[in-house]
Amino acid sequence: MPAARAPRAETVGSLILSSARRLERAGVTFGHGTSNPIDEAAWLVRHALALPVAPPRDDTTRRVSADGVQAARALIAERIQSRKPAAYLLSEAWLGPYRFHVDERVIVPRSFIAELLLSDALAPWVANPASVRSALDLCTGSGCLAILLAKVFPLAAVDGSDISPDALAVARKNVSAYRLGKRVRPVESDLLAALQGRTYDLIVSNPPYVTAASMRRLPPEYRAEPGLALASGPDGLEHTRTILREARRHLNPGGILVVEIGHNRRALERAFPSLPFAWPALSSGEDAVFVLERDALPR
Ligand SMILES: C[S@@+](CC[C@H](N)C(=O)[O-])C[C@H]1O[C@@H](n2cnc3c(N)ncnc32)[C@H](O)[C@@H]1O
Repeated sequence: MPAARAPRAETVGSLILSSARRLERAGVTFGHGTSNPIDEAAWLVRHALALPVAPPRDDTTRRVSADGVQAARALIAERIQSRKPAAYLLSEAWLGPYRFHVDERVIVPRSFIAELLLSDALAPWVANPASVRSALDLCTGSGCLAILLAKVFPLAAVDGSDISPDALAVARKNVSAYRLGKRVRPVESDLLAALQGRTYDLIVSNPPYVTAASMRRLPPEYRAEPGLALASGPDGLEHTRTILREARRHLNPGGILVVEIGHNRRALERAFPSLPFAWPALSSGEDAVFVLERDALPR
């Protein structure tokens, strides 16, 4: 009788590849921190094996124990069966090197504004990071952009506002994890309503901007997120209209407004044909974030 073949030894790399194939075959949707099956599998497998997300040197040939293989496979199965974003399964999301706690009370951080902050601190619109003494992250969710504002503009006092008390509880947890309680203040507010009389050198916002038609077609991963964080009326611009109407009186002279609007550039420019929107270059090639100087905003 031929001897039974020993099971093939799994390495970190082979486990990531086979997991990526499983995710792809199952047709899960990406877009919550990763954009493809390999990155998603690597995130989940590394987490299951308690390995760093970004290892200091290549560790893909490292052998994985039977327990490790089982833990990784179970996590991949959970991702496929639940159709929840990996970020919720792992209670974490990353913007560059910054880790944030997330759970289903908040949208999974993925704002393009983070890219603009981390790549060049909003240059050239902000000429000198030390000149930003006050900033507002409107619609802060997990507090991720408010925290990045505090990191990138070290002299700024930052407000992070949101209408959702649940989201603000998550923001508080993140602010405290980064020991920024003295500089970042979570505030409950319906857009700018509770911020009367407050002015800032910089306002950034990643408000809800999904159109009603897109809301009806959302894949399950996006439906796992709070609808309040996504929907913004028929054309996705309901929140942005209010922001444009009210931002000027909350900006100091020389201040700027930075707002993410997803795929809505054309609709926005049709709605506000006289506003001189600037569209910073993003790695995705999209025009998803506009910048306006205070003096260009409606009075
Ligand atoms: C797209 S999420 C952005 C969260 C976070 N800034 C980020 O980039 O991950 C939008 C946030 O706006 C909040 N929101 C929705 N309607 C709001 C309103 N009327 N006033 C203030 N915040 C609102 C939601 O609770 C949600 O946290």
